[in-house]
Amino acid sequence: MISSRRRNEHPLLVKENTDKGNKRDNEAHLDPDDPSRVPIKRDGYGNKESDAKEPIVDLGIEEIEGIGPTTKAKLNDMGIMTLMDLAVKSPAEVADAMGSDLARASELCNKARSKLVEMKYFDEDFVPATEIYKKRKTIERISTGSHNLDDLLAGGLETQAVTEFYGEFGSGKTQICHTLCVMVQQSKSEGGLAGNVVYIDTENTFRPERIVEIAETRGYDPNVALEGVIVAKAFNSSHQELILAELGSQVRSSNVRLVVVDSAVAHYRAEFLGRGTLSERQQRLNRFMHSLVRTSEVFNVAVVATNQVQSSPDTFFGDPTKATGGHVVAHTSTYRIYVRKSGKNRVARMVDSPYHPEREAIFVLNERGIDDPPDEAQGSRGRATGV
Ligand code: GTP
Ligand code: MG
Repeated sequence: MISSRRRNEHPLLVKENTDKGNKRDNEAHLDPDDPSRVPIKRDGYGNKESDAKEPIVDLGIEEIEGIGPTTKAKLNDMGIMTLMDLAVKSPAEVADAMGSDLARASELCNKARSKLVEMKYFDEDFVPATEIYKKRKTIERISTGSHNLDDLLAGGLETQAVTEFYGEFGSGKTQICHTLCVMVQQSKSEGGLAGNVVYIDTENTFRPERIVEIAETRGYDPNVALEGVIVAKAFNSSHQELILAELGSQVRSSNVRLVVVDSAVAHYRAEFLGRGTLSERQQRLNRFMHSLVRTSEVFNVAVVATNQVQSSPDTFFGDPTKATGGHVVAHTSTYRIYVRKSGKNRVARMVDSPYHPEREAIFVLNERGIDDPPDEAQGSRGRATGV
């Protein structure tokens, strides 16, 4: 692909031959011989210091009246260390952690929330639309690696949202996740957010070799790409939930801008078999998904969740053959994309988005991870097929 690529010259080797023809905005930082070179400092959102936002507060839960040492220890054991951790948890999770009733847990969650509202980290309960509009303006996007798919997503994968990719085996869900792992680490001018990724792997399908291949083919240093991916293998649904409980602190401490859960539903499907267990399964999955949504909003990160569907569709949000209704989890900032095979190509369809038009985009799987079909990748970029 990029034959004259200089590998291993610098830990942050950049693409020489960018197809966009743009210089990276931080290229000066990357040349080891550049006398003006300074390390790039990033805030908790992964932004460079120049465009940094207010850092997220790290006030401990002991700030809340009524949390004594015993309760604190129990919550800490569950990875709930700060006000923010507490505020993003559901009262049911907190009740489980404390071994208390739901009312007490709700009270604590509300207190954490109120405190954060007071400190202007959370919105008031009644918010003018202008405020919501302002918050939506802080949404950032990660390129998927395919211009067609980016177009379908109105510019790329959004932060502050959970995007679900669902489809049958081999449709490319895992490949999308791997490509995003590389893309999110690039600078903003290259479609990334200069941030790291947490990859929650429930099916043992994460392959570092694939990250290496995608990074190399795209002209990025594979070692840097690997360093930016933090992998958490979830062995069962409870472990998956435990990982999620600790996600907040990981996101804060490691400049994480993307969280991948591949697959979000596999353990639940395997563990809760039969009609009798369906409601518990849905309840647990609901809780898990809500927690992901809150994490995405609070930390301004993008979340990708995959879900395999077979002949009997089983998505988080209802029957994928129906565009509306039957939602198990309803949230306005969540997008669903149905991926299917079509000969050698793959087709992605936006389903049920509050504002994206329902249409399809064609992409392929190759050494770049996911990519535009060869005829389109050359010249006119970014066409999605309207339906
Ligand atoms: P399930 O997890 O089984 O539901 O499938 P999935 O949707 O995650 O499928 P996945 O993303 O794993 O896609 C599998 C397809 O990707 C394979 O059939 C290959 O066509 C392609 N693929 C996987 N690995 C590679 C690779 O290393 N190179 C290339 N060129 N293609 C690959
Ligand atoms: Mg997969």
